Amino acid sequence: MHDTLTIKGSRKLDIEKVRKDFPILETTVYGYPLVYLDNAATTQKPLAVLKAMDDYYTTINSNVHRGVHALSQQATDAFELSRKKIAEFVGARHSYEIIFTKGTTESINLVAASFGRKFLKEGDSILVSGMEHHSNIVPWQMICEEKNATLKVIPVNEQGELVLDGLDKLLQSGVKLVAFNYVSNALGSINPVKEIIAAAHKYGIPVLLDAAQAVQHMEIDVAELDVDFLAFSSHKIYGPTGFGVLYGKEYWLNQLPPYQGGGEMIKTVSFEKTTYNDLPYKFEAGTPDMAGAIGLAAALDYLQGLGFPAIREAESELMAYATDVLQQIEGLRFYGNVANRAGVLSFLVGNIHPFDMGEILDKQGIAVRTGHHCAQPIMDQYCIPGTVRASLSFYNTPGEMDRLAAGIRKAVVLLS
Ligand code: ALA
Repeated sequence: MHDTLTIKGSRKLDIEKVRKDFPILETTVYGYPLVYLDNAATTQKPLAVLKAMDDYYTTINSNVHRGVHALSQQATDAFELSRKKIAEFVGARHSYEIIFTKGTTESINLVAASFGRKFLKEGDSILVSGMEHHSNIVPWQMICEEKNATLKVIPVNEQGELVLDGLDKLLQSGVKLVAFNYVSNALGSINPVKEIIAAAHKYGIPVLLDAAQAVQHMEIDVAELDVDFLAFSSHKIYGPTGFGVLYGKEYWLNQLPPYQGGGEMIKTVSFEKTTYNDLPYKFEAGTPDMAGAIGLAAALDYLQGLGFPAIREAESELMAYATDVLQQIEGLRFYGNVANRAGVLSFLVGNIHPFDMGEILDKQGIAVRTGHHCAQPIMDQYCIPGTVRASLSFYNTPGEMDRLAAGIRKAVVLLS
């Protein structure tokens, strides 16, 4: 099998050339060329991102929004330009609707704490789905507990799809906000986002979309989706770790109280009273991660250079190829067995424990994730301790999928 995919349409990714942008992919592990299939946990970083961050630190490093001196102004310009690029990338109407955070987890915690404090009262509820990551369950549970509110759940069927039959009824049961993921990190299912948002809006209920596993695979337009909040992490979209984004509609962000107090988020402070800054700074207490913002903007530039249609095409052909080679393995069963999947193949083979499978794959240089993937409720629903998860990027190759399949077969022989 050749490592070059044929992409329909005018653009075609030259995978071998693209891989040269990611030097870490040349690594060997236990003497084998690395097969990196843990992209849903974190993606590798192209040289363009590393260079942008290095340039920032070597040429203009300085604190933003505070100094009159030249470096501070250049750092502020670069930082705010990054915000503008990120806003354009997700289709936000205004760059001040983009709040910088540490990642998806902090973005969700921000909304849970601020929205919850202002709008949640005893007897209300928050609606999540049965296939959420812990980061889109626990922050809501915490605020529900504080406010004597209830967490409700959209059920998931055996195939790994959301069951929407009862959604209308659920929405009319005191729900104040709906929070769910675009793509499940544990199953790969792509959820019917537009349908759920439209249903919630029928009752005036805002929606938070966890796009941590979606932004790197598909174009997202918050205006077209009409979503109220959207959260994602830089490190899953080829940018640096420790940095993330919360998009919020101006209407909602203006109503929410600040999440953290400190410098930058204030207009005036006295011991009697503090007044808060305008958006987005009201939600950005303390010195922000300048290099993080610049690194993420560089990652988006890099991806736009490759072209999202080409990325999507390469990944969907690779998913189809991987699904085909894996399902030929006797005893292998997928979790999240839906046609509409992005990036993630979650599976078990026979009664082999996922950790054992993961270890044997690792010894062959193949990096996958094993366990519950921080999504214990959906694992409990399937009555399994976890799965083996191979998660793909456009820089993976069909040859690597062949190695994964051969690695699984070898593990089956060793463990049976
Ligand atoms: N949320 C990350 C994952 O799914 C860590 O692997």
